[in-house]
Amino acid sequence: MNTSPVIAEQHGALRLLTLNRADKLNAFTPEMLAALEAGLDDALADDATRVIAITGSGPKAFAAGNDIERLVTLDSAGAYRDMVAGQRALLRLHESAKPTIAMVNGFALGGGFELALACDFVIASTKASFGFPEITLNTMPGWGGTQLAVAKMGLACAKRFVLSGRRHTAQECASFGFLHEIVEHDALFDTVREFAETLAVYDPFAMEMAKRALNRANEMPLSAGLDFEAAQYAVNFTSEGARAGLRQFMEKRLARRASTVTVTE
Ligand code: COA
Repeated sequence: MNTSPVIAEQHGALRLLTLNRADKLNAFTPEMLAALEAGLDDALADDATRVIAITGSGPKAFAAGNDIERLVTLDSAGAYRDMVAGQRALLRLHESAKPTIAMVNGFALGGGFELALACDFVIASTKASFGFPEITLNTMPGWGGTQLAVAKMGLACAKRFVLSGRRHTAQECASFGFLHEIVEHDALFDTVREFAETLAVYDPFAMEMAKRALNRANEMPLSAGLDFEAAQYAVNFTSEGARAGLRQFMEKRLARRASTVTVTE
């Protein structure tokens, strides 16, 4: 039995990272957070990996949040450090050069929901549910949840989650804006893998530049964002991938024009 806190598997161009603490609904420990960061680093360093997906082990949970048994033992400095560590890991995920998918197979609560929101795409099974129960514990999200929720679903929806503490099914979340697809539970992995394959065909550098520009959109005034976008465009434009992509389009066009001319003659 694999006892690593995070299990990494390769499926073609997809690196799947599985949180491995099913008996505690994959509640986060510092070891699991460190293993997730290490798994991310490893996937980012591997050229064959184009897309990274994260899921939870066991039949019930993606991740049920921070480990409450450990949280209650912390003093205020310890809690602060724990939040900063969680924020750092999730920010690295949010900013990762490769596209990321949260493959949500069950409860995504507290830190688990924050983890999903830090990914570029959220694909959920019909068994998934999402929530920030922290307010019911007289606390609040602290791994970036208040900021990421507003960025991903707007202030009104974010308040609904954070201030009510209510859990919503994937179906209820369909219109909230952060969820990209809901599929039958048994089809979850195949859907994620097929989607990853569609992303994997694109040039990794163009993907990285586009993602950086998108991530800056919520952080800058429009004029600064447009300047940043133009600069990213120019940097990417000189890459071999961009030259090849544009050239390939033109070659196909010219070949089509030539064949049309031959037929008419
Ligand atoms: N931290 C530590 N342990 C947790 C946990 C968490 N966040 N979430 C679940 N667990 C543990 C439970 O204590 C239980 O362990 P035990 O079998 O040793 O008693 C095990 O995981 C299974 O959970 P259980 O509560 O029995 O499952 P359930 O299906 O009845 O309920 C939840 C599922 C998700 C509704 C419930 O576990 C829950 O509310 N968890 C806390 C979620 C939360 O508040 N997250 C934010 C933390 S800041």
